[in-house]
Amino acid sequence: MDMLVLSPSILAADFSVLGKQIKEAESAGAQYLHIDVMDGSFVPSISFGMPVVSSIRGLTDMVFDVHLMIEKPERYVEEFARIGADIITFHLEAAKQPDEVIGKIHSLGKKAGLSIKPATPVEAVLPFIDRIDMLLVMTVEPGFGGQSYIPASTGRIRQARALFEQHGLQTDIQVDGGITVDNVRVALEAGANVIVAGSAVFKGDVGANVQNMFGAFEKFRNAQA
Ligand code: DX5
Ligand code: ZN
Repeated sequence: MDMLVLSPSILAADFSVLGKQIKEAESAGAQYLHIDVMDGSFVPSISFGMPVVSSIRGLTDMVFDVHLMIEKPERYVEEFARIGADIITFHLEAAKQPDEVIGKIHSLGKKAGLSIKPATPVEAVLPFIDRIDMLLVMTVEPGFGGQSYIPASTGRIRQARALFEQHGLQTDIQVDGGITVDNVRVALEAGANVIVAGSAVFKGDVGANVQNMFGAFEKFRNAQA
């Protein structure tokens, strides 16, 4: 949990030069690659699916951090594991038997992330708290990139960090949505350590954006010390 991780979300990338942009993010030091899969049902929009993930897998050794915004995620866990996902995150609101989904992800040798939308109480994750590898606290309503950070998210991140601490756990907490170089500090201070950024990385100069984000991480670390 000590490590701060940047996970650029390719939803905001220019898909005509996707490979190039991924390489730029990797060269600048981003450790994860956030891959948003939307089904047009759990969320209103449709993004992309398996063929895109397969074709970029050979490009990079970055950790593939797959965020499934799909109903009945258990249907696709095996497929995403097979094509190279390292972390598979699904929504608590989308699964009838979250326990089984977590078990399935683990049986495939992958890390299991559980995600909650802004209106879902943080305590809803309690039954699964000691089985998940990462909790994704959505900081916007899932479905679209480029939205603004919901201010009430900060208290939710803090609450999630406190819950893990009460259980003696150092589980990763990921934040996703509206994170910028100017507000990332707030999320870090609240206890997040895996930072998703779409627009803030892929709009403009990718390498410089990643470096700026790491600069904000560094400032936060120095202030802690
Ligand atoms: C939203 C997605 C996010 C999105 C974040 O449903 O889960 O990962 O790409 O984009 P930004 O950082 O632009 O808000
Ligand atoms: Zn996402």
